[in-house]
Formats: sequence, C-alpha cells, structure tokens
Amino acid sequence: MGHRALIFDSGMGGLSVTDHIRRETPGLSLTYVADDMFRPYGSKSAAALRARLPGLLATLEIAVRPDIIVLACNTASVTALDVIRDAVRAPVVGVVPAVKPAAQESRTRTLAVLGTPGTVKRQYVDDLIANFAGDCRVLLQGSTALVALAENKMSGRKVDMDILRREVSPLFEGRFGADIDTVVLACTHFPLLMDELKSVTRQTINWVDSGQAIARRIKSLLLELPKDSREEPPDCALLIGPEAAPARRRIFAQYGFGKVVGLYP
Ligand code: DGL
Repeated sequence: MGHRALIFDSGMGGLSVTDHIRRETPGLSLTYVADDMFRPYGSKSAAALRARLPGLLATLEIAVRPDIIVLACNTASVTALDVIRDAVRAPVVGVVPAVKPAAQESRTRTLAVLGTPGTVKRQYVDDLIANFAGDCRVLLQGSTALVALAENKMSGRKVDMDILRREVSPLFEGRFGADIDTVVLACTHFPLLMDELKSVTRQTINWVDSGQAIARRIKSLLLELPKDSREEPPDCALLIGPEAAPARRRIFAQYGFGKVVGLYP
C-alpha cells in the first residue's frame, strides 16, 4: 500500500536515477520501462520523439497506473516534456541537465555539458545555460556512442575504452579544455560509466548529475499525493522489445527489479 512510480528511459540509463529514488523513498513501488526498440533517443529528431512519447506514456500510464511518472531521460525531457505532460494525468518529473548546481560549484567558471547529441542541441539547454550559467564558459559535447557503451556494460559486455576515450577527449583537448573543472553528466546513461570516465580523465573533475535532486523532488511531490489502498505488485521492469538476455536480467535484479518482461508491440 502506498505509491507507485513509473520510471521511463530509452534503456538502462534510468537505473542511475533509480538508486537515488530507492534511497530517498524506500518502500515506493517501482515499475521500470525501457524503450529498447527506439533507442538511442539522442540521434532521433525532436519531431520523432514528440510524435512517439506522448502516446506511449499515456498507454503505459493506463497499464501501470502510477502515482507519478519519472522521465529518467534528459533527451526526452528537454525535447518533449510539455507534450508528455499534456498527454498523461499523473505528475511528470523530468530529468534535465544539472546546469544550475554545476555553475554554482565551478571555480574556474568553465564547465562542460556531456549529453546526447539531441540534448546538447536543444533550446531547453541553451535556456538553462542562459538562466543559470550566464557567467560561465560552457562547452557542449554530444555522444551517442557512450549510450551504447553504457548499455554494453549493463549487459555484462566489455566497455571499449578506446571508443570511450575518443568520445570524451575532444572536450579536454580542445581550446579551454584544461580549464574545465565541472562536467554535467546530461544523460542518465553516463553515471553508469563513472569509473571508466574517471579513468580516462587526467584533470580533477567534479562530475555532476541530476539523480539526487530528482529523488528529492519525487519525495516532496509524493508527500502531497493521497496514498491508495491497493496492494502493490513487486517491482518489475518492462522492456519494449525482445526478452532480456540473462546478463541484463541479473543487472535489473541487482537494482531491485526481480521480474523482467519483454513487451512486443
Ligand atoms: N538516457 C537518455 C538520456 O538521459 C537517452 C539515451 C539515448 O537513448 O540516446 O538522455
């Protein structure tokens, strides 16, 4: 009895947020949905995401009946939060790049936003920078390959460090790269690669993501919502696409999703 949250991402990136949510709101029932069939979101057009996501989330809302929807995907949030909110009844919390805390913490006033190509080119991010980091130099870097590397890691496969280095090094080797002291991990997949990212970065970096802030926001929103009396089912993960491979199931189980179901649309 209590509340249920629907956590949504294109893949396993939302698991980096799930950890924070479990710590902040123990006992909250969670249903995780990964849109495997349409990943990566970061290379899709805004029009394609705005066409797909409202209907999909509205359908999932009917099936899962969550009290709150967590859009654990920066790309989806900065592209389609408005149309998704219009399509569903539950409150929607969107994960967006943590530009504000990063700007507050940067001493060199030089920070980077490392997200998907889709995220770093959206107006939403330009507005965040203008509003909260106006006195900072902000370097933008988009990567789709890092999403695939995070998915590989979460499926028990090796992370190709050459690719990882290739994706990240232009940021630090370019003009002003040496001044960067803070990097916004603006894709929920990227905190899953924290150890690997640290291992290829020579300078000391404060890596900032939105997980903790989102978990606090969810907790405070839930305090305002009435609890219902239905018996909550065990936490489960729904994958839009084929069944999960055993290694992927094991990772979901480690994050508390003992049941993993493939949904064939
Ligand atoms: N995890 C997602 C994000 O936060 C998107 C990854 C992708 O599918 O490109 O942006």
